[in-house]
Formats: sequence, C-alpha cells, structure tokens
Amino acid sequence: MNRRVAESRAPAGAPGAAREALPSPHEALPPPREALPKSVAIIMDGNGRWAEARGLTRVQGHQAGVKTVREVSEECARLGIERLTLYAFSVENWKRPQAEVAFLMRLLSDFLVAERPTLVRNRVRLTSVGRIEGLPPEVQRDLRATEEGSRGHDGMVLCLALNYGGRAEIVDAARTLATEVRAGRLAPEEINEERMASALYAPGARDPDLLIRTGGEMRVSNFLLWQISYAELYVTAVLWPDFTRAHLAEAFQAYAGRERRYGGLPEVFPPLEVPPPPEVPPR
Ligand code: FPP
Repeated sequence: MNRRVAESRAPAGAPGAAREALPSPHEALPPPREALPKSVAIIMDGNGRWAEARGLTRVQGHQAGVKTVREVSEECARLGIERLTLYAFSVENWKRPQAEVAFLMRLLSDFLVAERPTLVRNRVRLTSVGRIEGLPPEVQRDLRATEEGSRGHDGMVLCLALNYGGRAEIVDAARTLATEVRAGRLAPEEINEERMASALYAPGARDPDLLIRTGGEMRVSNFLLWQISYAELYVTAVLWPDFTRAHLAEAFQAYAGRERRYGGLPEVFPPLEVPPPPEVPPR
C-alpha cells in the first residue's frame, strides 16, 4: 500500500497531471465480478491537503476531486457495481469559509449538467440523499432535472449525499414515523428495523457492502450511520484527487478477501453439539 501511496503523490505541477498515465501492468486489477461489492460508499477526503501540498488553493483541490468522481463512477458502472454513494457535501460542511461553500455548490451544479451525456452513455441513474431542500435553489433545480432525466436508466445507481448527515437522516426518519403515529396510522409497537429503514432517505436501497475512505482518517464522519452497520471498512492514505482505478481495484481486492459474518462465526468452527439436558428422575 505504501508503494502505491508514494506513487500516487503527483509531482508538483498541473492538478491531475500524474493521473493521466495509463495503469501499468503491475497495478491491481479488480477481482472477478462475483467477488465485487454490490453497493459501495465513499468518503472522498483529502482535496484540501492535495491542493496545499502543491501550493494550490483548496478549491483547486475540489476541482481535481471532480475528475476522480468521474473516473471512479465510470469504473464502478463498468464493473457492474449496483449502487455507488458519494459523500459530496455534509450538513457540517456549511461551517467552511463561505467562498469555499459557494465554489462547491457551483462545482456541483456544473457536474450535474455536464455529466448528463455520460449518465446516458453508461445507463447510470443519478439519485441523492440528504436535506436537499436546504441546498441553493439552482443546485436543487439542476439536481432534480438530472435525476428526472436519468430516471429510466437501468444501470448503476449513482447516489450523491448532499447536505447529508447520518444523525440528521435518523432524526428525519423518527419525525416521519412520529407523524404516522400521531395520525393513528402506525402503532409505536409496530416500529421495528424494517419500518425505520423504510423511513430513511432511500428506502429499499441496498446498504453499502464496502465503505471506502480516502485521506487516511479513521472516522466515519456521520456518513450513512444506519446503513453501514455491517459494511466492510477500507481506509487508504491516498488523497481523493490521487485515487485512481488501480486504487479502487485494490479496495475491491481487500473486500474480496474479507469474511463477512454478520455477528456469526467463521465456517471453520463446526456446529456446536449441544448436549441434551440431563434427565430429571421422577420424584
Ligand atoms: C473533503 O475534502 C471533500 C469535500 C468536503 C467535498 C467533496 C467534493 C468533491 C470531491 C467535489 C465535488 C463533488 C461532486 C460530486 C461534483 P477536504 O476539503 O476536507 O480535504 P482535506 O481533509 O484535505 O482538507
């Protein structure tokens, strides 16, 4: 992994210059399709550090990050991943300098418009999760139009988490269920995990099998808190603008090597023989 990280650090120069090279033969290839995760979520971290390391502005880091969004989305669609959820803007991100927030919103709108032909070509359906009503009206407009235009696509679902927080999502779901209870349509004792999941932003969506975080921080940062209960975690030090198809393949290889037990035992343990209870002699 360290070798890759070192390789992936682009020399000072134009943003993205080091990512133009084609993967060399020794770079990781993805595992066979049946070993791939079906649902992938990514915390795209490190744009700021990538820019600072090159004497660039943070917004140039985000600009470089958009190229990685394209490359990774196209690769996931090509590999047959069913659902890719990207953490593009959190409820906490409003605390950033106003100019950075405004730039991120512009980038989003531009991306949503520019990606339309690619979504058509790859049959990708674009969706979103988050408090969408809190986004600037022009972003909401571009988002709704792109979602609408790709609604009939039968390929990968590309879900953007926008103005998203995992706790906010659980709070919003609790409010939805409480409203149902108040209206007499739901009894409190009918609330179970399925009901709760059905009140989340994307009911019926497959939970992530794999959560990737770039930039090296060992946190989940309020992302999909309910949905990642049993996700496999993969953290790489590679900064998001440096993250390539080869790094994605490495993450998928790591996933393919994991054993998912969901609280059970590994298969090497034989089923436990439970002895029958001792017979109690009749009195
Ligand atoms: C974290 O990097 C990244 C973000 C807060 C925004 C992610 C946005 C993009 C990748 C571009 C726009 C997205 C789309 C879908 C068009 P950071 O700024 O926290 O990096 P740092 O930890 O190095 O400071």
